[in-house]
Amino acid sequence: MSELKIGLIGTGSISESHLQAYQANPKVQLVAVCDLNEDRVRNTAAKYNIPHVYTDYHELLAHPELQAISICTWNNSHAEISIAALRAGKNVLCEKPLCKTVDEALQMEQAVRETGKLLQVGYVRRHASNIAVLKKFIDAGDLGDIYYAKASLIRRLGNPGGWFADHERSGGGPLIDIGVHAIDLCWYLMGKPKVKSVSGNTYNKLGNRSNIQNYEFYQAADYDASLNTVEDMANALIRFENGASLMVDVSFSLHAKENSAQINIYGDKGGAEIEPVLSIVTERHDTIINIDPQISTPGFDFQGAFNREINHFVDSCLGLIDTNSPVEDGVEMIKILNAIYQSAAEGREIHF
Ligand SMILES: NC(=O)c1ccc[n+]([C@@H]2O[C@H](COP(=O)([O-])OP(=O)(O)OC[C@H]3O[C@@H](n4cnc5c(N)ncnc54)[C@H](O)[C@@H]3O)[C@@H](O)[C@H]2O)c1
Repeated sequence: MSELKIGLIGTGSISESHLQAYQANPKVQLVAVCDLNEDRVRNTAAKYNIPHVYTDYHELLAHPELQAISICTWNNSHAEISIAALRAGKNVLCEKPLCKTVDEALQMEQAVRETGKLLQVGYVRRHASNIAVLKKFIDAGDLGDIYYAKASLIRRLGNPGGWFADHERSGGGPLIDIGVHAIDLCWYLMGKPKVKSVSGNTYNKLGNRSNIQNYEFYQAADYDASLNTVEDMANALIRFENGASLMVDVSFSLHAKENSAQINIYGDKGGAEIEPVLSIVTERHDTIINIDPQISTPGFDFQGAFNREINHFVDSCLGLIDTNSPVEDGVEMIKILNAIYQSAAEGREIHF
C-alpha cells in the first residue's frame, strides 16, 4: 500500500502524541511540519526526521505531495487553517475544540461540503480502549436507554496560563479546554441526541492563583501570571429533545480538597462509570451487580488513545472506514459550549 503523506501544524505539547502515533503507523510518511516558533519546529523535524520545515502554514499547504494534516495550534487558528487546508485538497485532523465560535464552525462545515474532503475532530476520548469496551455493551443494549449523564473534571489548581488563559487565543477556560472532552464523550455515548436547551454558569472568582506556593501544576511553555482572561470554573445542565439530560462541571481552579475526574452515564438497564476507571452497573436475578471489566487499561490510556485516533484518521483518509468524529459533531459541540457561555453571561436558559 502506498504511504499517506502527512503534515503537522503546531509543534507544541500535544503534537508529540500525534507524531509518535504517525511514526508508529506503517501506512504513513511524515513529510512536513510547521510552527510559528522556528527553533521549536526545527527541533521537532530533527527528532522525527521530517524533511520539510515551515514557519508559515500557507507554504506547508502548498506542498503538492501532502495528502493529510494534523492541526495542533491554538484554538483561534483552527478554523482558518482547516478551511485553507481543505481548499488545498488536504484531509484534516483538527485538535479539539473544533474552533472558537459557531460562525467559524459553520464555515468549516461548509468547506468540508464544498471540497468533499474529510475533517476529523480530535475527540481523543472516544478512542480510549475502555470506551471501545463500553461501546460494545452500549451497542448490545446492555445499558438500555441512556437518559442521564454526569461529568465532572475538577482541577483545584491547574490554570496552565499562556494561550490557555488568553480568551482571544483559546475562546475560554476549562469549559472549552477540558469540558469539551467530557461533554462530547457523554453526548457520543448517549447516541448524540439533539440538544433542546442549555443552562450554564461561569465563575471568575479565584483567578490563576499565581500566589500559591509549594504546589506544582502543569504550566504552558509561555506561562505569564499577569495574563488571565478566562473563567475559573463552569457548570451546566444540558437538556435533550429525547428527555435525556447531562450535568457537567469543570474547573481550572476551585477550593476543592483534591483534583477529581468523574464521568458517569445512566440507562434504564444499566449504568457505567468511565472516569476514573471503567465499571458497569446493572442487575441480574433481582440483585444489583457491579461489573469491573478485566482490561489492561481500565482508565484513560493517553498515548494508546492517540494512537487509535490517528490510526482511525489514517484509515478514514485511505477510504477504509468512515470517521466516527465528523465535522458535524464538532459543530454541535461548539453550539453547546457557546450556548453555555451565553447562558452564563445572560443569566437565562438558552433554547436551541
Ligand atoms: N486532545 C487532547 O487531549 C489535547 C491536549 C492538549 C491540547 N490539545 C489541543 O491541541 C492544541 C494545541 O495545544 P498545546 O497544548 O499543544 O499548545 P502549545 O502551546 O504547546 O502548542 C501550540 C503550538 O502551536 C503553534 N502555533 C500557534 N498558532 C500557529 C499558527 N498560526 N501557525 C503555526 N503554528 C502555530 C505555537 O507556536 C505552539 O508551538 C489546542 O487546540 C489544544 O486544545 C488537545
